[in-house]
Amino acid sequence: MNRKPIFAANWKMNKGPSETEIFLKSFLPKIHGQDFPCEIVIAPPFVSLPKISEILRDASAGSDGQPVRIGAQDCSCHDAGAYTGEVSVFMLRELLVQYAIVGHSERRTIQGESDTLIHAKLRKAREAMLKPVFCIGETLAQRESGELERVLSTQVAEGLRGLDPKDVLETVIAYEPVWAIGTGVTASSAQAQEAHALVRSLVAGLHGADAASRVRILYGGSVKPDNAAELMACPDIDGALVGGASLEPQSFFEIIRRGCGRP
Ligand code: PGA
Repeated sequence: MNRKPIFAANWKMNKGPSETEIFLKSFLPKIHGQDFPCEIVIAPPFVSLPKISEILRDASAGSDGQPVRIGAQDCSCHDAGAYTGEVSVFMLRELLVQYAIVGHSERRTIQGESDTLIHAKLRKAREAMLKPVFCIGETLAQRESGELERVLSTQVAEGLRGLDPKDVLETVIAYEPVWAIGTGVTASSAQAQEAHALVRSLVAGLHGADAASRVRILYGGSVKPDNAAELMACPDIDGALVGGASLEPQSFFEIIRRGCGRP
């Protein structure tokens, strides 16, 4: 099954509008004309979305289109109203956002987001035609106590519960073992492949073999230029969600280049 890879940058709480501009001035010329067979997504902080959307609009006006898509790091599960600090999916659409990360482990742990809330955000993102980047993953303690399958199975089932087949296919799953995020410890390609195959089989159980063979599953957790090619060579890995190593233009570019198998 032909699944177009995605390389997504999750900048977390880094880079306001001016640093976003500096990054793009360096990064866009690197990818210009490369015609990588993948989608590139950048998810800056909310306040930098107008800047990235303006720069990408100008860049595509002068060329034959550019492959960078805009992502948000989160979205509200509500439409509008008295939700201080929240940002709605419709506001994101207005800024040309196409992807929204939901259920990142930092939000699950630091903000205490539940599977139920994450499911509501995922549904709301689809209402606005955003593609959710739905994050799942186990902690080290859970892995070591043999709970990998139970944890992933609960997260996948709760997140994708009752979705239309079309919405499942527009969702991108990101498997990010919590112990590999920001630690410099990457899952081995064998560990990552095993977890991705498990996630794909869980999707098959819930939504059928066809959806499972078409849904894209990204790996995240200390992806770097040095390990991108090996991870991307795994049959069930369809791209990467990159934190730390996406903050520097050359490093993110190298991840994409090597991840696409370019010499
Ligand atoms: P990392 O973060 O690449 O810095 O480990 C990945 C993520 O949290 O999405």
